Amino acid sequence: MSPKINPVKLTLKDLKHCIALDRISLNGIWNKQQWEEELINPNGLCIGIIKNSKLIGLCCGWIMIDEINITLLAIHPLNKRQGFGKILLSYFINLANNINVKIITLETKENNIPAQALFRSLKFRELAKRNKLYSDGSNAIVFQLKITEES
Ligand SMILES: CC(C)(COP(=O)(O)OP(=O)(O)OC[C@H]1O[C@@H](n2cnc3c(N)ncnc32)[C@H](O)[C@@H]1OP(=O)(O)O)[C@@H](O)C(=O)NCCC(=O)NCCS
Repeated sequence: MSPKINPVKLTLKDLKHCIALDRISLNGIWNKQQWEEELINPNGLCIGIIKNSKLIGLCCGWIMIDEINITLLAIHPLNKRQGFGKILLSYFINLANNINVKIITLETKENNIPAQALFRSLKFRELAKRNKLYSDGSNAIVFQLKITEES
């Protein structure tokens, strides 16, 4: 059963926690300045899950008119496979729907099976493959969700 937890919008006051979770979950894809910019970006949307006063999940995206590109999604390693990723991404989709976003895109490494399973479980469809998109030479799979069809 999914845990009863409501995601919250993240702001600059959450900066330290975002940096810490980014480091532990994704090896720090953004530095402090990038995180500051992300958290104050008027075209950005960043939400998180706080459990026992700790940030354990993060999902951020950039809004472009009626589309959002999800730039980051991470659950703390100690909290994986407990339903939090699904709660967070579902909440993000609902928020996007409420601001009239029609399309959500995101991409992940071709070998990231957990992420791909999560996206498919929420009706994202595979849109394209981008060869060697990542700095380690990995290919990317681009996923898309058309909200009007889905919700
Ligand atoms: C991908 C990620 C966000 C999933 O978060 P999570 O909280 O562990 O996922 P959930 O517990 O909500 O799982 C939801 C569904 O995703 C799929 N899933 C999640 N982890 C999986 C795994 N290890 N293997 C296979 N499927 C998996 C399953 O379909 C699962 O549903 P189920 O538990 O009913 O089978 C998490 O693994 C993570 O932070 N990974 C590192 C960062 C990352 O890869 N981010 C995405 C890149 S864009």
